[in-house]
Amino acid sequence: MGKYGSGNTEWFVKDRFGMFIHWGLYSMPARHEWVRNREMISNENYQKYFDHFNPDLFNPKEWAKAAREAGMKYFVITTKHHEGFCMWDSKYTDYKVTNTKCGRDLLREVVDAFRAEGLKVGFYYSLIDWHHPDFTIDCIHPLREAPNREELNKGRDMKRYAEYMRNQVTELLTNYGKIDILWFDFSYPREDGSGKDHNDWESEKLVKMIRSIQPEIILDNRLDLPDEGDIRTPEQYVPDTPLKDDNGNLLVWEGCQTFSGSWGYHRDEQTWKSPKQCIDMLINHVSRNGNLLMNVGPTSRGYLDHRALNCLKAYADWMKYNARSIYNCGPAPDGLVAPTDCRYTYNKAENTLYLHILNWPFKHIHLAGLAGKVAYAQFLQDGSEVKMREPDSSVHNNLNSATPDAAITFELPVLKPNTEVPVIEIFLK
Ligand code: GLC
Repeated sequence: MGKYGSGNTEWFVKDRFGMFIHWGLYSMPARHEWVRNREMISNENYQKYFDHFNPDLFNPKEWAKAAREAGMKYFVITTKHHEGFCMWDSKYTDYKVTNTKCGRDLLREVVDAFRAEGLKVGFYYSLIDWHHPDFTIDCIHPLREAPNREELNKGRDMKRYAEYMRNQVTELLTNYGKIDILWFDFSYPREDGSGKDHNDWESEKLVKMIRSIQPEIILDNRLDLPDEGDIRTPEQYVPDTPLKDDNGNLLVWEGCQTFSGSWGYHRDEQTWKSPKQCIDMLINHVSRNGNLLMNVGPTSRGYLDHRALNCLKAYADWMKYNARSIYNCGPAPDGLVAPTDCRYTYNKAENTLYLHILNWPFKHIHLAGLAGKVAYAQFLQDGSEVKMREPDSSVHNNLNSATPDAAITFELPVLKPNTEVPVIEIFLK
């Protein structure tokens, strides 16, 4: 107990699918949550967003409902992003939501709404803080090119900042009930000292403190400590295979991904993924033993825009019928290789294999290594039987579809079933 990687991931690897929420003042410029860095905006010039923050259409019950319907079982929300603005009523700063026109503790309202829908609660907390007066100006700070940078850095004290973080994290872990995940972001060690690492955050002390308050909480791996916490967090790419440690043991991991190319609300960004891409992505994560944390960036008025809702709806439509191939599932048993354009997931407890057909084939699909091992197979979207034949079957309609050795063959309808990615549920003997 007390170690960095000693949280409870038992529920996590079963639930598989969560919602990331990036919401803060950066939803107002609406051109990426790194806008302060990219445009090198000073505190003074960023103040206008604080002065006008007023999400009058905020209704977290709608977010929570959309998440639950999409099949998401937990969520992680930015309590503070790199800009430093706090979405809760923190005692340790004035730079917080309760001091804006809005005047309410929005974090509390989000937590209450998502809990009411049955989702587990995660907090993202940025280690980086471009607003805090003690946070030294480094290689990614908005003031990095200020001519008087050295002077501005005088008197800044990372020790005080580390204490500020401990105080804030304590608030977050004591005032909002049980928190299931704490997601720190991020360390950027540089040999020349221009970055920041575990020494700056006093990561060990921070972890110890966290574990003394909520021993079971899941911690991500971005605190720059050798023991990499509870979960690995590949970002904006999907690993090709299950992640393993040096001894070949499976690691718990969660990919964090976006619907379009930004985490915070970005009005003009156009690279929105199609429903098919979103669903493929979820399947790919689970088939490689990962979770998917899919991001939404609510607008500054507090709602999810139509593009985000469309993507969530795509998940909802698919998950309504196919969720059984996601929850409680992981990679296929060793040695089983999925056919071309297909992905397996596997529910070990039920000994059930799920075949996801990403590209609809013509009439047949051969499953290597499954001869004699399948008790029954059906489409998941409607529970209709999928006819199969064993390699020794005499029912060969034509030579080209003769069953290869040790494979069973499924007979498929010519028309793809009416679901974005059809899944065949295979009950193994
Ligand atoms: C990056 C970015 C950040 C985002 C995060 C999510 O590290 O700094 O904006 O919050 O990824 O994983």
